[in-house]
Formats: sequence, C-alpha cells, structure tokens
Amino acid sequence: MFSRITAAGSYLPARCMENRELEDALETTDAWIRTRTGIRRRHLAAADERVCGMAEQAARRALEAAHVDPGEVDLIVVATSTPDWMFPSTACLLQERLGAPGGPAFDLQAACAGFLYALDLVDKFIRAGTARNALVLGVDIMSRLIDWKDRSTCILFGDGAGALLLQAAPTPGVLASRLHADGRRHALLRAPRPGGPEAPAGEPAFLRMQGREVFRFAVTLMQQAAEELLRESNVTVEQVDWLIPHQANERIIRALAKRLGLPMEKVILSLGEHGNTSAASIPLALDNAWREGRLQRGQKLLLQSFGSGLTWGTALVDL
Ligand code: UT7
Repeated sequence: MFSRITAAGSYLPARCMENRELEDALETTDAWIRTRTGIRRRHLAAADERVCGMAEQAARRALEAAHVDPGEVDLIVVATSTPDWMFPSTACLLQERLGAPGGPAFDLQAACAGFLYALDLVDKFIRAGTARNALVLGVDIMSRLIDWKDRSTCILFGDGAGALLLQAAPTPGVLASRLHADGRRHALLRAPRPGGPEAPAGEPAFLRMQGREVFRFAVTLMQQAAEELLRESNVTVEQVDWLIPHQANERIIRALAKRLGLPMEKVILSLGEHGNTSAASIPLALDNAWREGRLQRGQKLLLQSFGSGLTWGTALVDL
C-alpha cells in the first residue's frame, strides 16, 4: 500500500496588504521589499478569523476537487505554530466541522517545515494500512505573532492555509521523504508562547529572527537534503519536473535552484502574492500551480522546506 496526493485546496484571507501600505509606518519601500524578498503583497486574517476556519476552507476545497465526502476522512494532521487553542488541537476542531469523527486527528509543530513533517507522517500511516483517506494541512496566522514595528520581519509574513488529500493507492505517490532538525540553532528564529515563561513580562510575545543567518543555513541545508534524497532515490535533477520550495524569500529560492542546477522555469514561485505563510507555504504553492494547470499528473515534484528549530525537510512526489 502506498500514498498518493489526489487533490489540493487552499485559502487566503480576503484582506490583501500591498508593500506600499507598509512604507508610511516603517522605514521601508516597496522596491526594497520586492528586490530583497520577491514579495509584493500578503493576506491578513480578519480579527474574527480563526486558524480552524481557514483550515476548513482549504480542506473542503481539496475534498471537493477529489469528489470525496468529508465523512470518509479517517486521519487529519494539521501543521501549525499558531493554533487557536493550546488544546484541543486544530485537527480535532476541524474534524468536528467536517463531520468525520473516529479517526486520529492531531496537530504537529515544526514551524515552516511543519507541512513536510506532516506529509511524511501521513505517508507512513497510509503505508502501514492504518488510514486510507487522510487530510494533511499547513495553516498559520503569522500576522498575530509579528511585531509590526520590526521592518526586518513584518514585511515577510502573511496568513494562509493549504490542504492535500492523500489516499491509499497501489502505486507510490510519495516516493521518498526525509526530515531533519538541528536544535543547536533554535535561537535564530523563535517566538515565545504568549503568557509563557519566555514571553517578556507585560509585553506582547513577538517573533524574532536573525535573518541573514537563517538565509545562509536555508540555502546550504536544503541543497544538501535535496541532493541526498535524489541520490538515494536514483532520480536525477533533470528528471525533476518541478521544485516547490518553501515560499520564504525569492533570493533563497533562486540560490537553491542554481546550486541544484534547476532552471527557474521548473520552480514554482507564488510568494509574490502571499509572502511567507509558514506551514501553509508548500500546499498553497502546490494548489495554485495545480489549479493553473502547470502541474500535471505523472510529474515528479521536489518539495523543500525549512524553518525554526532549525527544521527542514524534503520530499519527492510522483503526482
Ligand atoms: O520561514 C523561514 C523564515 N525566514 C526567512 O526566510 C528569512 C531569511 N532571511 C531573509 O529573508 C533576509 O535575511 C531578510 C529579507 C530578512 C533581510 O534581507 P538581507 O538582504 O539579509 O538584509 P540584512 O538583514 O543584511 O540587512 C541589510 C540592510 C540593513 O541596513 P544596514 O545595516 O545595511 O544599514 C537593514 O537594517 O537592510 C536594512 N533593512 C531594511 N531596509 C528597508 C532590513 N529590513 C529592511 C526593510 N526595509 N524592510
């Protein structure tokens, strides 16, 4: 038994913030943001919007695309760093909304690499025969973790949700997957739990990042991981149809593609429209490209992500 991606869905909040809206409040410009990151705009959740509601929108779109009844879902894994509740998990709330009780449902936190961690896990559930119709999601409302006065971070992030439906199949869809972490680098990118022991007393708990270092590690670690996975899978770079990287910074993506020897024509770039949506990044980019008709069944996809922890992961998928 193997797992196959049979459908994708995604959701972006209605409110869209252009770079130039940040110019007045911060010492920044649309030109700086575009040339240093590739980001043009980001979507922001409304005050009454919830991670669970965004997850539901993305999940329903994936299920509709596959003509699968929500009641048939027997496993839900949600990658998020910004859940509505400490507990219950977003996945349990989503399970109730979809009306699919009984199977396991849980959240997983590996920051921006969370989606590939979840995909790896769900693939193993299906291969073991313990799930047949699984939803794997990445959802984050980063705008609530951001210090909107810190121009080195607030320009980068946006809110969004992405979902893939993975189903049991006789031939492999997820061909190979590897996960990595290096906890020695945890201080490079972190956000304290609001009200927790690491949050500054009486102040909001914001994300802080050493951007230049994260940039450097991201390119090197993702290159190594991709080359290792391709070698182990006996797949050449030329056989890869699309690289779908974490949509964090276009310069990181271009550097990675160059090192791997992949032309930019084979790289999915959607961050210009939504910025870094953390765990939602890869399923959002994948869904956009699939709905635009760029991705085709039978193509080989190389998925790559990195994030706080540091964590990173890579997966090779036959669509
Ligand atoms: O999911 C993982 C998330 N993390 C990442 O992907 C982050 C990876 N890192 C990055 O994307 C980049 O490091 C940044 C976009 C965050 C920063 O770009 P950079 O080219 O590494 O800039 P820098 O930090 O080296 O700063 C260069 C200059 C500095 O000024 P000085 O010291 O040279 O005078 C900054 O103060 O740019 C300044 N700067 C800005 N200027 C205008 C930093 N942010 C801004 C800004 N507008 N928004």
